[in-house]
Amino acid sequence: MSSKFTHAGLLPEAGLPRHVAIIMDGNGRWAKKRLLNRVKGHEKGADAVRGIVRTCRELQIQVLTLYAFSTENWLRPAGEIKALMTLLKKFLVEEEKELKANNIRLEVIGQPHRLPDDVRAIIEQVRSATAANDGLLLNLALSYGGRTEIVDMVRTIATKAAAGTLQPGAIDETVVADHLYTRNIPDPDLMIRTSGEMRISNFLLWQLAYAELYVTPTLWPDFSPDEFIAILKDFQKRERRFGKVPPQSES
Ligand code: IPE
Ligand code: IPE
Ligand code: MG
Repeated sequence: MSSKFTHAGLLPEAGLPRHVAIIMDGNGRWAKKRLLNRVKGHEKGADAVRGIVRTCRELQIQVLTLYAFSTENWLRPAGEIKALMTLLKKFLVEEEKELKANNIRLEVIGQPHRLPDDVRAIIEQVRSATAANDGLLLNLALSYGGRTEIVDMVRTIATKAAAGTLQPGAIDETVVADHLYTRNIPDPDLMIRTSGEMRISNFLLWQLAYAELYVTPTLWPDFSPDEFIAILKDFQKRERRFGKVPPQSES
């Protein structure tokens, strides 16, 4: 294990989450506190993303899913949506080199067809440029909604059943999981939400079934690698039981 691991005071033997999912919330409040436009909060939020991606890579975490834009966020004012899309494009343009150099693979979950053409184009470019990387998977949830994902899954499965290529009796949890946007990705072990809100806001409704939850009052632009590592230490102390009793709790 890397020296970074031990420097950070993490316990190598306790293990780290394979998959960390984060609801990056509080950009607007961060800006408001400083009497700035909400867009400034989103800009600062993009910087926080860079630090957390770097830390995940250094700690050899397999998957980082970041909730960047929800299906409900389309209901925000047009100006804010436009600024968020511009920022997303800028982030991907700037990070392409970093991702390639650091063996990071980019994936996106959600409804790419609702994104502007230029954003879709840069996603495709970075996705194909990093497709062969086998280090960290950076999974961006964009125009993502857990309920839409479930509706899409049901529709695909129902179509196969109607066509006779899938027997209704053969539908089990594995079949369902294989028809979600996250097929091939392990479920999150840890879900962090910044800015203190105690809710899931339509994020990974199926996949969070047994995730450990951590809510911090820190607003996303202020979320630092140090706080992230402190949360990972807290995770290492948790006892995950998966419905069993303690002596048999290892999954
Ligand atoms: C999270 O910050 C970013 C997105 C949802 C795109 P918010 O913009 O929700 O910030 P608050 O919750 O208003 O502070
Ligand atoms: C959740 O945050 C979505 C993202 C962080 C992308 P929101 O700010 O949209 O959620 P609510 O409205 O507080 O539930
Ligand atoms: Mg919010």
